[in-house]
Amino acid sequence: MKYQRNIIITGGAGFIGSHVVRLMVQKYPQYRIINVDLLTYAGNLENVADVADAPNYVFRRADITDYPAMLALMEEFSVDGVIHLAAESHVDRSITDPFSFARTNVMGTLSLLQAALNTWKATPEGFSGKMFYHISTDEVYGALEMDSPMFTEKTPYSPHSPYSASKASSDHFVRAFHDTYGMPTVITNCSNNYGPNQFPEKLIPLVINNVINRKPIPVYGRGLNVRDWLYVKDHARAIDLIFHNAQPGESFNIGGCNEWRNIDIVKLIISLVDSRLGRPEGADDDLITYVTDRAGHDLRYAIDATHLTSKLGWKPSLQFRQGISETIDWYLDNKDWMDRITAGEYKNYYSRMYGDK
Ligand code: NAD
Ligand code: TYD
Repeated sequence: MKYQRNIIITGGAGFIGSHVVRLMVQKYPQYRIINVDLLTYAGNLENVADVADAPNYVFRRADITDYPAMLALMEEFSVDGVIHLAAESHVDRSITDPFSFARTNVMGTLSLLQAALNTWKATPEGFSGKMFYHISTDEVYGALEMDSPMFTEKTPYSPHSPYSASKASSDHFVRAFHDTYGMPTVITNCSNNYGPNQFPEKLIPLVINNVINRKPIPVYGRGLNVRDWLYVKDHARAIDLIFHNAQPGESFNIGGCNEWRNIDIVKLIISLVDSRLGRPEGADDDLITYVTDRAGHDLRYAIDATHLTSKLGWKPSLQFRQGISETIDWYLDNKDWMDRITAGEYKNYYSRMYGDK
């Protein structure tokens, strides 16, 4: 079958990528979706098992830093679109192992850009009908004070963690490929995501998992840092809309308009999980354990998504209460997923960070 489009999605076995792969495979049977993922500790093909047999879906295990492999894939599938999510994504890991973040996030993005450039330049139509979409984070803007206005697309970059520095660097390379070679690119900077299939090193699934298993919940510092939480399926919907409608060179902020202090979210999750499990109110409040703050911990992130809303009509679909309840239900209904994930490498990592509790 001749497909209307051939799109590589990198990182499609990870948290957000798996939701994007599912959406694109199911919504666009006329597109071939090539999921390129190295299957690191964070990648799990179970996340996309429900589309694995779809005729328009292909999976390739490959490392995005492997330029010849990326070039070969671009050529093999006559790729005309890249939606790039593969990354090292956890701030705490970036503090202990910054090299992996520079390697995957900077060199990996550069190798994909170069592969797309060389493949697309060699086609008769050049860049026409092509798009390189880079998924980034609001963390590139640095940290806000409690009373500062939200991040807009014009906020200067000021990353603090090795993670956000590597993402900022990759964003700069994407812009440079647009400005230097005229490559059609788009960048989006999104706030914190939550939802099904998130690896339990991140705050929300970690808290859900620890309440279920009555393990201590590490709250960094005094728990007063603020994050703007967006339901992952709303992010995937925004990516679809932007991939199809962005002007080359454009960038958009994506956010939930949903700011929470960490400690409030932790308390809400404890109470919702306990209520779902029929435990008395307050039964697990003493799981909260204040621990040494994260080094360089950004105080607050908050996104102004007016550009996306006014230009493309996107808005978050779910209220946080509904999203977090659905997320908790998913983790309770998929305990075996969590048990498998936490049995291996993650268990060792958690023990290294917090002791063998
Ligand atoms: P994740 O850690 O859950 O998944 C990352 C995926 O990338 C995994 O499947 C992993 O196997 C794959 N991968 C890692 N290194 C690779 C390599 N060298 N080659 C090929 N594949 C590789 O990440 P996520 O939370 O789904 O984030 C996806 C993207 O969205 C990242 O670029 C991240 O910076 C960005 N982002 C995440 C959030 C969030 O809250 N999670 C918010 C904004 C932006
Ligand atoms: P995280 O989910 O790691 O996302 P990010 O650092 O990219 O925003 O953390 C969200 C917030 O929760 C952040 O302020 C750090 C804090 N946090 C804890 O207090 N305890 C934890 O165990 C984790 C993982 C995070």
